[in-house]
Amino acid sequence: MSESDQHKQPIGVFDSGVGGLTVLKHLIHSMPGEEFVYLGDTARVPYGNKSQDTIRHYTRQCVNFLLSLDVKAIVIACNTASALALDLAREISPVPVIGMIHPAAASAVQQTLTKKIGIIGTRATIGSHAYEQAIAKVSEDIGVHIDVYAKACPLFVPLAEEDFGDHPSAAMIAHEYLHEFLSLGIDILVLGCTHYPLLKELIGKTLPDISLLDCGETAAKELSAILQIEDKSQIGELPIVRLFTTDSVHAFSSIAERCIGFPLPEPIRISPETLEDQGLSGI
Ligand code: DGL
Repeated sequence: MSESDQHKQPIGVFDSGVGGLTVLKHLIHSMPGEEFVYLGDTARVPYGNKSQDTIRHYTRQCVNFLLSLDVKAIVIACNTASALALDLAREISPVPVIGMIHPAAASAVQQTLTKKIGIIGTRATIGSHAYEQAIAKVSEDIGVHIDVYAKACPLFVPLAEEDFGDHPSAAMIAHEYLHEFLSLGIDILVLGCTHYPLLKELIGKTLPDISLLDCGETAAKELSAILQIEDKSQIGELPIVRLFTTDSVHAFSSIAERCIGFPLPEPIRISPETLEDQGLSGI
């Protein structure tokens, strides 16, 4: 493949559902001339309550599906898959794979003044301790000590998928999950699940004086830098977006347009069985 063909290859992005669209928004903002293919595995959401084996199995399938579309880089726009299967994705992919955890951890360490950071995420992400490990590594490298407080918030994913952030029940759930952060002295809360920026207003109201860190923003900066260093950036006029989902196209389409903020082509439905075949093909 010639170098100019490599520039034109799309960037592959996947998540268990609509959450990764919050990452796609930042990717488009940072790299507006690129083509993106997004896979939302909505038939099998949530990943965050599943076992490590299942999450790795699904991640392999999503990565292989994106590789079959000839992508030049892959963004795992899912903290759960990043926490539990980034090593596997990098092993099977011949193109760079960006996860959510390390860029967000590095940015949180740089930003905190109180040296106390909060993390919220799915049960699988929090149970993996991937954020604690990444923060310990980054802070050790610069010789500081950071206290990390982590909490799983499993009900936030269905609230985001159902677009329920404004409902009174969401405020009660947010208070129940988050009130203890108010007395811990944290100044940064990492939204360690890509669904959570869809509830940013709700979380911000519950924790008014704490900065919320969106991992999609930090991951987009990292990918943009990698493509520039590798001279693979594309300078198109407008972003091109192709959406794939493993379940209802209609529900996905309306939330995608709201999240990205401009009209998008109709998503293409692929069955979970098609992804299963990708898992076996061992690309
Ligand atoms: N959006 C995903 C994350 O960042 C996963 C949510 C889920 O499927 O449980 O962790």
